[in-house]
Parts: sequence; structure tokens; C-alpha cells
Amino acid sequence: MTKPRVAILISGRGSNMMSLIEAASRPGFPAEIALVLSNRPDAHGLARAQAAGIAARSLDHKGFADRASFDAALDALLVEEQIDLVCLAGFMRLLTAPFVETWAGRMINIHPALLPSFKGLHTHERALEEGVKIHGCTVHFVTPEMDVGPIIMQAAVPVLEGDTPDSLGARVLAQEHVIYPAALRLVCEGRARLEGGRVVIDEFEIAPPALIVPPAG
Ligand code: GAR
Repeated sequence: MTKPRVAILISGRGSNMMSLIEAASRPGFPAEIALVLSNRPDAHGLARAQAAGIAARSLDHKGFADRASFDAALDALLVEEQIDLVCLAGFMRLLTAPFVETWAGRMINIHPALLPSFKGLHTHERALEEGVKIHGCTVHFVTPEMDVGPIIMQAAVPVLEGDTPDSLGARVLAQEHVIYPAALRLVCEGRARLEGGRVVIDEFEIAPPALIVPPAG
């Protein structure tokens, strides 16, 4: 059986992209990473993708008059490359509703917070400001409203005394690298299905990420 062709969209360093590329390079992974695409030509992740032997292209959003024309070009490129599924991995650009609707059920995103808490930017700073004791990350299907789509998988981490946005962010990022490949696997195997606006997981065989309770004291 041919594997679904996945495009990873990035804007920066691409550490989640690398976690997906590494997972997909292992035997038995049910997806092929066919393309990495950045809206920023200088994204560090493009060189990392190339070094891993993945086709890497940039589509500079600055060359387009508006969001609609950028998204139309993006869609054309994905169609030309026969992409089946899109993974947003630190793609820091809002997508228009028509584009999102075209890819509905075929586009997933990773967000560095436990949605529906802390949508948007600066999630680790805001989690620390709010004094939450548990923080984490979410993989979800993309819908037109930002950071709202049906949740496929989440991982939680403790917020520790003395944490900075960087230390907390590093703890979350390590979990992002675990759940994004796991969620992609579920979607590609058809085991994470959209039903009535929620995700139903069939035959969940892999160990779910542990909920880590903050240490006492
Ligand atoms: C990741 O933490 C990802 O969750 C976040 O950007 C970072 C990209 O890092 N995405 C968002 O904030 C999207 N709203 P990476 O380029 O090393 O994967």
C-alpha cells in the first residue's frame, strides 16, 4: 500500500519537523514526508530538511499581495506535489478560511499549550503568569478559527518552582517531539477519525503520554 504523502509547513528552526522526519524514516511508519515548505526563505529548518534528504522549498509570503493569493499559491504547490496531509510545525502564519476548508480533515497542527487554554503566542510566559501547575502541548486538526480544532493528542508537564519561559518551554518541546509523530501515525492509519467535531481514537495501542503530577513541596 502506498503511504500518504505528507508536507510539513514551517517558519523557523524545525525541531518538530525533525521529529516527524525521524519518525517517518523508521520502518513501518505509515507516512512519507514528501515535502518541507517554509514561508520564510531563511528558516533554519529548510537546511535541516535538505540535510535529511527531504525536498525543501520556500514560498515567501512577502512576495504576495494578500493572504488569499499566498494561500492559493500554497494550495497549488501542495496539489502539484500530490500531498495528502499537511502538518503545521511552527508555521507562524494565519491561513485563510477557504484554504483551511479545502484541507479540512487533512491538516494538523501542534500547539505549545494544553488547548483550549493559552491559544495564540507566548504560551509559556502566559502559563507562568497565570500560575498554572500543569502545562503541555496539543496536536489538533486545523479549523478556520485559530488553535480551536478537534484535539487528537495532548501531553502534560509539571510547572516547577523557579521555571522560566525557556525552562518550561524546553520541557514542553520534549513532549511535542513525542506526541506529534504519535498523532501523525494515528491519523495516517485512519485510527484518529473526526466524528461530530471531535476526534475518536480507534484501538489506541501505543502508551498514552503520562500525566505528570507536580511534585509536592
Ligand atoms: C513549537 O513549540 C510549536 O509548538 C510552536 O512553535 C514552535 C516551533 O518550534 N507553534 C506555535 O506556536 C503555533 N501556534 P520548532 O520550529 O522547533 O518545531
